[in-house]
Amino acid sequence: VRNLFLVRHGETVYNTENRIGGDSSLTPRGEEQAEALAEHFATVRIPIIFTSNHRRTLQTARPIAARQEPCSIIALPELNEIHAGVCEGLTYEEARQKMPEVARGRAADKYRYVYPGGEGYATMAERVVRGLKKVFYLGNYDENIMIVGHRAVNRMILSRFLSRQEEEIPYIYIPQDRYYHIRIDPYKRSFELVPYRS
Ligand code: F6P
Repeated sequence: VRNLFLVRHGETVYNTENRIGGDSSLTPRGEEQAEALAEHFATVRIPIIFTSNHRRTLQTARPIAARQEPCSIIALPELNEIHAGVCEGLTYEEARQKMPEVARGRAADKYRYVYPGGEGYATMAERVVRGLKKVFYLGNYDENIMIVGHRAVNRMILSRFLSRQEEEIPYIYIPQDRYYHIRIDPYKRSFELVPYRS
């Protein structure tokens, strides 16, 4: 059995403003979440943590890695958050007001909708799978793996393990105070949404 711990980065400045995309940093609350994760995983051996290239995932991974001896952090651009094109940096509300057609398009078919100048869930699938292949190639078969990812990316990763209709994928619950523990066994797979702070 190998365990995959699928974590979302801690709270960012953009999260508190309900803003899309960007490369913002963790808030003090996000840093506390990273510390709580580090504490939670201190007794679980994790030799490699995979992140995206975005600050928020690296800032979440660092305290966790610091409690592991040794632990490498590998940043993969394939795990970067969905690129929202013309909506990058806008709040959901601003996007709705300035480009109502974007909100309408997403509401009609969120999985297949592609942001003008950016990506959609369907078009990012290929690169996320490529990232996941790298994760499994670089991780050892009998060791635990952690991925610190993003809301859309983690939905895509989970969908490779859960059998979900494509339409449901963009709505999978990806909170910031819990992580998905995926047990990968040749005969059985199990999933658990685990809270990491008491
Ligand atoms: O947490 C914000 C965020 O990661 C955005 O950067 C991204 O566009 C969004 O979540 C993805 O979620 P949804 O597809 O539900 O808007």
